[in-house]
Amino acid sequence: MAESANTLSRPRVLSGMRPTGKLHLGNYMGALANWVKLQDQYECYFFIADLHALTTDYADPSRIKLNTLDVALDWLAAGLDPGKSTIFIQSHVPQHAELHLLFSMITPLGWLERVPTYKEMQENLSNKDLTTYGFLGYPVLMSSDILLYQANFVPVGQDQQAHVELTREVARRFNSMYKTSVFPEPEALFTPSPKVPGTDGRKMSKSYGNTIGLTEAAGFVVNKVLRMSTNGQRVRQTDQGDPELCPVSDIHKVFSSSDVTSDIQMRCRNASISCITCKERAAHSICDTTAPFIMRREEFASDRQKTWEMLQDQSSKAAIKAEQTMQKVREILGVSRNYDKVSLNFAQKDGLTSAFFLVKNASDFKLPPVHRALKIRVIWVKLVMSEGIILSQTGNFVNFMPERELEEPFVTTKNKRVFVSTQYETGNDGSFRFSIPPRSYEAWALLCWDRTFFLSDFVIPQKYYSQSFAQAKKSLKKDEKIPVTIRKDGERFLLSIHGSDPVDVTELRSNYEPLM
Ligand code: TRP
Ligand code: SF4
Repeated sequence: MAESANTLSRPRVLSGMRPTGKLHLGNYMGALANWVKLQDQYECYFFIADLHALTTDYADPSRIKLNTLDVALDWLAAGLDPGKSTIFIQSHVPQHAELHLLFSMITPLGWLERVPTYKEMQENLSNKDLTTYGFLGYPVLMSSDILLYQANFVPVGQDQQAHVELTREVARRFNSMYKTSVFPEPEALFTPSPKVPGTDGRKMSKSYGNTIGLTEAAGFVVNKVLRMSTNGQRVRQTDQGDPELCPVSDIHKVFSSSDVTSDIQMRCRNASISCITCKERAAHSICDTTAPFIMRREEFASDRQKTWEMLQDQSSKAAIKAEQTMQKVREILGVSRNYDKVSLNFAQKDGLTSAFFLVKNASDFKLPPVHRALKIRVIWVKLVMSEGIILSQTGNFVNFMPERELEEPFVTTKNKRVFVSTQYETGNDGSFRFSIPPRSYEAWALLCWDRTFFLSDFVIPQKYYSQSFAQAKKSLKKDEKIPVTIRKDGERFLLSIHGSDPVDVTELRSNYEPLM
């Protein structure tokens, strides 16, 4: 409990890595080392992006699972701690796939075609056919990863910047399209990451075959460093060198203490150290850093089953958070499983009934009828009437009397008096029965809520009812309310006033002209 209490207030960080197999020092310095530090300051989610791997490796998925476990073992070895962070496997939280599908509905093609890595990767990985739908949608999947957890910060390399930017656009589009604020816009968190040179002096990268493994045994590390290029420096031991031109010196900068680094730099310049000794020292510095990782990895790897189960637990934990987001999203898109939360979309746009949210949940329908009626009226006046129509209420409700308030008319900006009333569907004939005080109104707004919580609103100008209303007044006792019914007849809606002939009011549905 204590733990969840103090993580609650922390900003949320999320990042993912593709399962490319065992990590190398470049992966560690470029991302992982930073993640390990972030764990203490943020509420962190780190996941292995196995679904992302499939967007490029779909033709040969044989290594995906093994690589996933290898990455997990290296993460744990390097100090990602399931007691501090949630560490999980993307595909084990199926909400990623679900949100990806739903986002794909609203993401314009052009946004994806413009992502710079799209064409670039297609060209770089020309041995793979990347003209697939899944590969184009890769950034949508990444947006889903991030937004599913409503992450505030995303630690990534510069190469992923465009994807985070796209994520912000998806969040913005979703929020504005559905008039919600479900998704905060995440920010990329760039941390200065020292460049680790590979054994050939180029950037360390699996595709160059120049890597040193994060948990590679000391003997191999020494061998690889000894064979490293000095970039032409000090061909003979007596030559003076320039450490700024030698990748071995970059290894020192990253892994050795500043004392050792300045010492070898000075002794490189005055040729008082041999390259072999310099390289041995560099290899030792690497091993000093990685020795504890190697030990920890062995521990985790000795019981792979247990590590795998831990990842399952962590994935279930992630799924709890993911599911919270998905429930909101499903609700908004009309694919929720919760009948009790059937909610209503209703707005007037270009003469059509279009969707936005009116009522958050059906518990409003369990309120006492008078309170429910008040609530629905207020929602209707405030939300449905948002398009330039202002209705205000005149009464002074110092002592709250719901029945009195319900009878108090609303007034339009042109001072027309409007009686607004709400009825839930009654009987089996699908009719809505209103009682209207025998007073004078310029219009009635009759709000009919049916069994599926769908609102049909009828704004009925006086001329539709004045005759029958006057007649009814005569035949009823003074102050007695006039019974008025709206009944559905196939696709038509019929209005009857105290037994007089029904009038077709279908056209008055969602027609607010009388209020202008
Ligand atoms: N696309 C990232 C990469 O290739 C990995 C990734 C997938 C990711 N989903 C993410 C990173 C979400 C950060 C957040 O490195
Ligand atoms: Fe490179 Fe070290 Fe040799 Fe200088 S002494 S050239 S830094 S390996």
